[in-house]
Amino acid sequence: MKPVLALTKGRVEKQFINFLQERGYDVQPLLDKGRKLQVETNQFSVVFAKGIDVATYVEHGIADLGIVGADILLECQPDVFDLLPLPFGVCRFAIAGEPSSIPSLRKQRIATKYPNITTKYFREKGKSVDIVKLEGSVELAPLLGLADDIVDIVETGSTLKENGLVVKEEMFSISARCIANRNSLKLKKSILAPLIESFKAEEAAI
Ligand code: PRP
Repeated sequence: MKPVLALTKGRVEKQFINFLQERGYDVQPLLDKGRKLQVETNQFSVVFAKGIDVATYVEHGIADLGIVGADILLECQPDVFDLLPLPFGVCRFAIAGEPSSIPSLRKQRIATKYPNITTKYFREKGKSVDIVKLEGSVELAPLLGLADDIVDIVETGSTLKENGLVVKEEMFSISARCIANRNSLKLKKSILAPLIESFKAEEAAI
């Protein structure tokens, strides 16, 4: 039986397909998938989902392996085995805002898709902030006056730049990760071990 691999749709998906191709895997069915959410290759059954759902499918054992950004693992703490870093999806968490914004006297208000990461970061600095949870396009929040600043991931920096925002503080770097269901690792060891071995980058990104 083929292992089931859950793959985060979007940027991570494209980079993972390149990564598989470089390792000699058959990726044509993945490239030809169109709007399909389940695809069979010679080696895997692949399911495509949003990052948080990738973690959920792996946690519940529907998928044996998952490819997901470390941001999801840090924010949602799913009960999965975090196997290894992958050499793509490299980006950094940062506090960003308008270049000219003046620190206000009231508590700083931060908009983010990552309330847990943000709370932990500021708590460790001994600072209390108000957090506004958004689901996306977080860069709008300081522009429209919903928040003073944002905490978000920055990859190329284009989204910040094109919206007139700047990084005010670098927080930490992350990459994509390969995660595994805890039971699958034991029960399907013989089919998973060679795959996992082939995913080990010569030089881990993070
Ligand atoms: C992410 C992130 C930033 C952007 C950063 O958003 O939240 O908005 O990518 O990438 P860049 O530095 O290369 O511009 P995503 O594209 O996942 O969309 P979202 O805003 O809908 O969450």
